[in-house]
Amino acid sequence: MIVLITGSNGLLGQKILSRLRDLDVKVIATSKGVNRNKEDGSYMYESLDITNKNEINRVLNLYKPNVVFNTAAMTNVDLCEEERFLCDSLNVDAVSYLADSCLAIDAHLIHISTDFIFDGDNGPYIEDDIPNPLSYYGESKLKSEKLLYNHKCKWSILRTIVLFGVADNLSKNNIVLWAKNQLENLNKINIIDDEYRAPTLAEDLAEACILTAQKKAYGIFHVSGKDLMSIYDLVVAVANFYNFDVNLINRISSKELNQKAKRPTKTGFILDKVKRVLNFSPHSFNESLEIIERQLKIKKLEK
Ligand SMILES: NC(=O)c1ccc[n+]([C@@H]2O[C@H](COP(=O)([O-])OP(=O)(O)OC[C@H]3O[C@@H](n4cnc5c(N)ncnc54)[C@H](OP(=O)(O)O)[C@@H]3O)[C@@H](O)[C@H]2O)c1
Repeated sequence: MIVLITGSNGLLGQKILSRLRDLDVKVIATSKGVNRNKEDGSYMYESLDITNKNEINRVLNLYKPNVVFNTAAMTNVDLCEEERFLCDSLNVDAVSYLADSCLAIDAHLIHISTDFIFDGDNGPYIEDDIPNPLSYYGESKLKSEKLLYNHKCKWSILRTIVLFGVADNLSKNNIVLWAKNQLENLNKINIIDDEYRAPTLAEDLAEACILTAQKKAYGIFHVSGKDLMSIYDLVVAVANFYNFDVNLINRISSKELNQKAKRPTKTGFILDKVKRVLNFSPHSFNESLEIIERQLKIKKLEK
């Protein structure tokens, strides 16, 4: 089995790469620019910008993977609102190049999408619910999905929600580590209490990606953590876990935050399909915090 990862420098990319080390597969990690994962001889690295169709063809034809995990994306929701052309080139056009190349070499394309394809009026959602994105990011991800629905390659789409986890040299932060850091430094923070999500431990999504490949499970799957909560409750849970002062957390409304892109009020996923088909079992939010704390302690010891 030969497996290729796009965006291997990102949060999910790093977690898939790390999990694949335990399995008997040849792994080609790819991302834009230089490798930011530890080099330990367990995988090969190729610099690959997935907006370049010729480069995708060259790399996929060279290694002929059986499975391609597409984790690369433009994930900054407000930037997508402003930079629509860039957003489309990475979140839509690149997916079409990958799908064409996967068809040519008979590879299984496992693509990641988002809860932001929904408007948040009727969460939690099942796979067949009708999408209605409020933001350009959500729209771009829905476009990428639609091009796969009609594509002849073997494809799976895993939709996920608010990813968090510990990883090296990430180009962006995630809510759990950001909140921990702010509260640890006794900074007052404004947190919205009128948007609800089911935050997802990156390891859980990586496991679902690998199960999808192993079981050759085609189609759409909803993959998230099992606890649906407001962003305010999420941050309070982080504070309580570490015994930080909850008075540092100031509740505000999403209107007050005045973000560029509109976000859905309440998403969350019904996980029946992914539990039944993949035997997927996510951690609770508190179990995830325990896992993260263990990883942070190990990192401290390694320094
Ligand atoms: N994060 C969330 O809360 C969330 C929620 C729902 C869905 N998702 C989806 O889940 C997937 C994984 O998200 P993530 O949080 O792991 O993303 P991430 O940490 O932003 O990782 C994406 C990686 O792709 C790389 N990349 C950027 N442009 C590229 C290009 N042109 N060619 C190749 N690689 C490129 C980035 O490189 P640099 O590191 O150099 O920038 C980054 O390492 C994405 O499809 C995202 O839309 C994420």
